[in-house]
Amino acid sequence: MDGAIGFLGLAYPWVKAAHVTFVIFWIAGLFIVPRYYVHHHATPPGSAEDRAWTEREERARKIILTPAMLLSWLLGLSLAFHLGAFDQGWFHAKLLLVIALTGYQGWVGAYGKRLAAGKRPLEGRTLRMLNELPALATILIVVMVIVRPF
Ligand code: HEM
Repeated sequence: MDGAIGFLGLAYPWVKAAHVTFVIFWIAGLFIVPRYYVHHHATPPGSAEDRAWTEREERARKIILTPAMLLSWLLGLSLAFHLGAFDQGWFHAKLLLVIALTGYQGWVGAYGKRLAAGKRPLEGRTLRMLNELPALATILIVVMVIVRPF
């Protein structure tokens, strides 16, 4: 693929490198924060550990999850405009998956607020199973972007 065709010009490989970097931070955050929730679940509401987990989770969401998600989107959309990817099948599939991942992050944020309020709405086991979703989405997204099956 010719690096200098779209509006990014010679910056294209740098933007792609930055995209992949922030995607790694984003997915790392999506793996770690719900893992924190599993530990948080086991703490009695109002206890010192409960407050410590709330603080850890809020910090991880603010410092890792939100900025990494926004930068992944910004850089990814720049690449899509550069390549003219909006009429390509693999990109439609990828877009659906990243929208789902962004929705999952919305749920992660909302669930963290409920835990902070002393609620434990889900079973620990359900939480563990939900933790597999970003792994599944990552596998499918990487296949879309590398293999481009359609
Ligand atoms: C947030 C919204 C996202 C958008 C709009 C987006 C869009 C794109 C586009 C258009 C490319 C350029 C492909 C190329 O140059 O050939 C790309 C590359 C890539 N994306 Fe994303 N992406 C997003 C999120 C993600 C996520 C969540 C992952 C991983 C889980 C990911 C993994 C990758 C990888 C590995 C590449 C490099 C592929 C290559 O070497 O060509 N992206 N992305």
